[in-house]
Amino acid sequence: MASNEWSRAQLRPDSQTGPVSDPRRGSATYTVPVAQFRTAQADTVIAPSLLAADFARLAEAADAVEGSVDWLHVDVMDNHFVPNLTLGPPIVKSLKAATDIPLDCHLMIEDPKRWAPGYAELGAYNVTFHAEAADDPVRLAKDLRAAGSKAGLAIDRDTPVEDYLEILPAFDTLLIMTIKAGFGGQKFMPELLAKVRTARAHADSGHLELRIEVDGGIADDTIAAAAEAGADAFVAGTAVYGAADPADAARRLRARADAARSSG
Ligand code: DX5
Ligand code: ZN
Repeated sequence: MASNEWSRAQLRPDSQTGPVSDPRRGSATYTVPVAQFRTAQADTVIAPSLLAADFARLAEAADAVEGSVDWLHVDVMDNHFVPNLTLGPPIVKSLKAATDIPLDCHLMIEDPKRWAPGYAELGAYNVTFHAEAADDPVRLAKDLRAAGSKAGLAIDRDTPVEDYLEILPAFDTLLIMTIKAGFGGQKFMPELLAKVRTARAHADSGHLELRIEVDGGIADDTIAAAAEAGADAFVAGTAVYGAADPADAARRLRARADAARSSG
């Protein structure tokens, strides 16, 4: 079930090859892949957040979900951008050696220009920094890609997504907080899904290959709403590592997200 690929670019069932008439070519009918006119729906990504795991047993926490999840979400907090303090490059380096699950590093830090590329160099699969902390996000996205990772932009609770729509082509991931960044275990804020809808409409109309990730309060009773709004990557801390069986919890979340996405 786990996918280590960015996108398996599965096409929707209605995007098979079929006859299409092109008014520019008169009445002749010829065959083109209809998929080029539609945005392919990427596979659901489930990303458990290690913030809710036992920090003395991170390798075991990774092993517990291996094969049932797509990314491991690593919340880096610096006690400045957010009041909380978590982990940094040495632990990411150790995690990289301890697991094959792609690391999704969410940097809740000041001065990401200085620190973010280091996470890419350590082998993080995706490195996401906060829009509120970056003075030149497009430049930093380029630096991250040059350093070998995907580039992600995070939007905190009070930041409008509209301000960043134009720069989304520079990014692989847009992380929309569904809480105020800083702590796990907070209550999901459904009103923030309006940003997901806006971003999804923009990404689809521009045919952007963009993951839209939601983070905060994602659980059995909230994931469907986030999926229906257009998210395709789901961070879950408490809902996975607070469960008796984290792998089973992750599989349940995926089933709910898949069901909501295919009905939408
Ligand atoms: C909080 C972090 C989240 C956190 C989510 O700022 O970015 O990734 O781990 O935790 P839950 O899923 O418990 O809300
Ligand atoms: Zn996070």
